[in-house]
Parts: sequence; C-alpha cells; structure tokens
Amino acid sequence: MTKQVYIETYGCQMNVSDTDTILGLLKTDGYSQTQSPDDADVILVNTCAIRDNAEQRVYGRVGELKRHKQKGGVLGVVGCMAQRLGSDLLEEVGHVDLVVGPDGYRTLPELIERAGQGDRVLDVSFRTSEHYDDVVGNGEGTKGSRFVTVQRGCNYRCTFCVVPMTRGDERSRKLSDVIGEVERLAEADTTEVTLLGQTVNSYNDGTHDFSDLLRAVGKVDGIKRVRFTSPHPNDFSGRLLSAMAEVPEVCEHVHLPMQSGSSAVLKKMVRRYTRESFLDTVQRLRSAVPEIALTTDIIVGFPGETDRDFEETLSLVREVSFDDAFMFKYSLRDGTPAVKLRDRVPEDVSSERLQLLIETVRDEARRKNLRLVGKTMEVLVEKPARRGDLLQARTRTNKVVLVENEGIDLWSYLHVRLTGTTGSTFTGVPVKARKELAVWE
Ligand code: 5AD
Repeated sequence: MTKQVYIETYGCQMNVSDTDTILGLLKTDGYSQTQSPDDADVILVNTCAIRDNAEQRVYGRVGELKRHKQKGGVLGVVGCMAQRLGSDLLEEVGHVDLVVGPDGYRTLPELIERAGQGDRVLDVSFRTSEHYDDVVGNGEGTKGSRFVTVQRGCNYRCTFCVVPMTRGDERSRKLSDVIGEVERLAEADTTEVTLLGQTVNSYNDGTHDFSDLLRAVGKVDGIKRVRFTSPHPNDFSGRLLSAMAEVPEVCEHVHLPMQSGSSAVLKKMVRRYTRESFLDTVQRLRSAVPEIALTTDIIVGFPGETDRDFEETLSLVREVSFDDAFMFKYSLRDGTPAVKLRDRVPEDVSSERLQLLIETVRDEARRKNLRLVGKTMEVLVEKPARRGDLLQARTRTNKVVLVENEGIDLWSYLHVRLTGTTGSTFTGVPVKARKELAVWE
C-alpha cells in the first residue's frame, strides 16, 4: 500500500507553491495525496506567521487534527510558523512530531521516516542556496496556470514584518533554471505563469534583472500570460517598466503594497518611500501600461498612527483608486523592530479604522468596476464556480468573471462581454473572438 499524505496550506501564494513542491517530493518517494486526514499516514500543515491570527488559526487546526492522527502516524507543522517557533512548537504541542522550515523540504521523506519511528524532528536551518530547482511540483488542479518561485527570502527590513525571520535573506534563482521550469510547464499545457518572490521585482541572479526575466518568460513558446507578485514599489526601474509595456504576455495588473498613506508612518515602517514617491510610481506604471489594474496591501493601527495619518491613508486610497486591497490591523510580531516603537494604537481604534478603510476601498473599486460593465475582455477559465453551473474565469487585469458553462473547457481562453458586477466580481457572456481583439495570437 502506498503511504498517504494529507496537507493543508495557509498563507500566501508562495506557501501554495511550496506545498506543490512538498507534494512533488513526497510523490517521488512513493506517497499519494489524500483529501481526508483520516486516511493519512502523514498529516502536514503548511503555515503562515505574518500575523498573530494566522498562527492562532493554525494552533486551532493542529489541535483538531490530533484526533485524526493515526496510531504510528506523523503530524508535522511546516512553513513560516515552524521556522519562527522552532523547538518551542514541539514543546508546546505534544502531538506534533515534526517541525520543518521553508528551506528544509528536500529531506522531508527522511525526516518523516524518523518521526514515524518515534523521534521528534526539528529542521529550521536556513539554506540560502536552496531553490528546489530540480523538484518537479505536483501541479494537480492548476494545470493551465502555475506559480513559479523565482526568488526566496527578503532583504528589506520593514519594521512590522516577520518574513526576514521566517524566510531568511533574499536570493534569486538563475534565469536559465526559471526558464527551464517554465518551458517544462508550457509543454504540459500551462499557458499562464505567476512569478513569485517576496520582493519579486528586485530579482537579480547576478547577471539578469527582473526585466530580463520578464522578457525571457514572455518568449517561452505557449506562454500567453505572465503575472508576478509581490513587488516592492521601489524596484520599478525604467528597464522594468519598458519590459512591462513591451512584452505582450505581461498582464495589466500589479499588486503594489502601499501599507500606509502617511509619510511619517511609512518612515517608521522603514518602507523606504514616501506618499509622494509612491504616487509617482503609480503614475509611472499608469503611463507605461494604460488601463493597468492596481491592487494593494494596507496596514492600519501601526504604532504612532494618528487620526491625521489614517486620514492620509484614506485620501491616498481615493487618489490612487485601487481596484482592490487586502487590509489588516497591525499585529505585533515578536522579534521585529516595531516591537520597540511607542504609542501603540488601541484595538478598538484600529478596528474602527479598518472598517472605514474597507468601505473606502470598496466604494472606489465599485465605481471603477461599474465603468467596465459592457466591455469585452479576454478571460482564462479556471474552475467551476461555487455557484451552480457557472465557471470562474479571470481577465488579464485579474478581475474574476463568472461565465455560464455552455460546454466551455477549463483552462481555455475566450472573450466575454461583462454583463454585470457585484462591485468586485463580474458576470459575463461569451462573444465570438473578433480578430482585432485577439491581440495574443
Ligand atoms: N501586521 C499586520 N499586517 C502585516 N503584514 C505584514 N506584516 C504585518 C503585521 N505585522 C501585511 C502587509 C503585507 C501583507 C502580506 O501582510 O500589508 O504586505
């Protein structure tokens, strides 16, 4: 009987991609994946440490998984929370057998075996040369659109952020290795790739920068769409903007984390830009790529954030008019520089600010999206939608469109006319592709 692994993934796209790597490694070692923890010899939870509530969710889930663990089975916590807490996690949670950080997955088969024999296993070493280059990911269910990690770790030191502690220093994969992977994916019918890195646009393999990478990925036969996430606002060089404008495969969407609209707060965050220079980046992006969709991340309640500072965040949100945003209350992370900052913002004030911010972002997004109704756009069909017989598809600008399923193949491209919007997602009907719309052909 093959050994069975059950894995749950929390957090960002890089964790989703890492889970794919883990499953690829374990399948090579003779495992198959099960969707039920009750059938599993090995249960893994791939975790996120970015905010306290992400960790609390994992504690809750790991507690529940105890009763699904088989006699002699292995329960492992991997990923950023494993890296951050290390041996503390083994001490705190008695039924956890294995704690492995993001650089330790290559030897997971051996580590799991040791844990199966009764050892309590810990591997939280940083291995800065580890890119899992030769590992073939699992890729089930995501055939047409795949993540490709091009850079791991982070060299920025934003004072709120735990990532440098969980993923270590920045390092980029060699361009030729990335292209080799994209070519293999394209041969297996992938047409869309999302390049991943903590500050992906600071990619540099010693010879090539991110603009070189975008141009090279765009040239791979069969690749129709190239996305990337998440960039740092400071790393949009002129070369990069030219590549974005000139490479037709690069999609018209950038996730541009803003964090705050107040230069004073940005300074305390050590984001290395001001409100004005952020706006300048937005304008440069918009003049290089007209119609570009912009989404963002924003934190409210960072230490020292005054009502005035928060007003500036609201006004910058209105000024930029983002297409969407992820918004968070500041969460204090042990070991980060911001722990030392004074003037912590009370919880109820942060909650109120978050609510106001969500309303402001939603209003802007709704206004923008309403203007798109009636337009025709190319979409890539991704999966059945939760609702009935609809399919979920995505525009190049990363808008979700629900389309009626009239014998449409998953992972096909079609043109749809947008017929309505909830304010954030759209409904659409297929139209015949007109020659002048088929810019990708
Ligand atoms: N508290 C709240 N939000 C945070 N983020 C990162 N660290 C924290 C924190 N300590 C947010 C940032 C980042 C996104 C991935 O998570 O907005 O861009």
